[in-house]
Amino acid sequence: MINVPDFDALYRADPDPWQVAGSFYEQRKQAVLLACLTRPRYTAAWDPGCGTGELAAALADRTGSVLATDSSTEAVRLTARRCGGLGTVVVAPLRQPADPDRPGEGTGGFDLTVVAEFAYYLTAPDRAAFWDVVDASSAPTAEIVIVHWRHRPHDAYLSGLDVTAEGTRRLTEAGHRWERRVRHDDQDFVLDVLVREAA
Ligand SMILES: C[S@@+](CC[C@H](N)C(=O)[O-])C[C@H]1O[C@@H](n2cnc3c(N)ncnc32)[C@H](O)[C@@H]1O
Repeated sequence: MINVPDFDALYRADPDPWQVAGSFYEQRKQAVLLACLTRPRYTAAWDPGCGTGELAAALADRTGSVLATDSSTEAVRLTARRCGGLGTVVVAPLRQPADPDRPGEGTGGFDLTVVAEFAYYLTAPDRAAFWDVVDASSAPTAEIVIVHWRHRPHDAYLSGLDVTAEGTRRLTEAGHRWERRVRHDDQDFVLDVLVREAA
């Protein structure tokens, strides 16, 4: 029986429960993630489990706009505070699986979605629906990054290795034209970059 965390309570007890702002693991992971993006800039990014907003803030340097969402109202508040000076980051509450507000006219969807350290907290049916949401909300030419701690948190449904494999398999096998372009797999975290080119 898995008891996923009460994320609001975690953030109320500690505004950075995973030391995202300062730990070497997080700094190294973010540096690798940014280095693995295959394009210098993106039009519209979505960060669907934004936590404290560190990644959204980093993505703001490479994107025209970032939509940062999270099911935790505390996470939304922390991200709004972290990204407050960044006019291109929009923060909103949203529990996955659920359709995000699409970026502006003419974009056709997000051209970058980063699924970071949160898909393993979703139940199997919610994950199945979530991968479909990510696919449907992406632009015809787009990129998805799936990045998680390699192991299984005691309060999560899957390991990072397994949830990354599942997301990549679902998206690449579903006939949606996604293909894996980058794979990073080390003792700490696993990261896949999936790319879809317009037909
Ligand atoms: C371990 S934190 C990771 C945060 C951030 N992505 C990062 O890498 O630092 C997991 C986050 O996922 C969020 N989360 C968990 N289940 C969610 C769901 N069903 N929909 C949206 N966010 C969710 C939590 O509120 C929490 O902020």
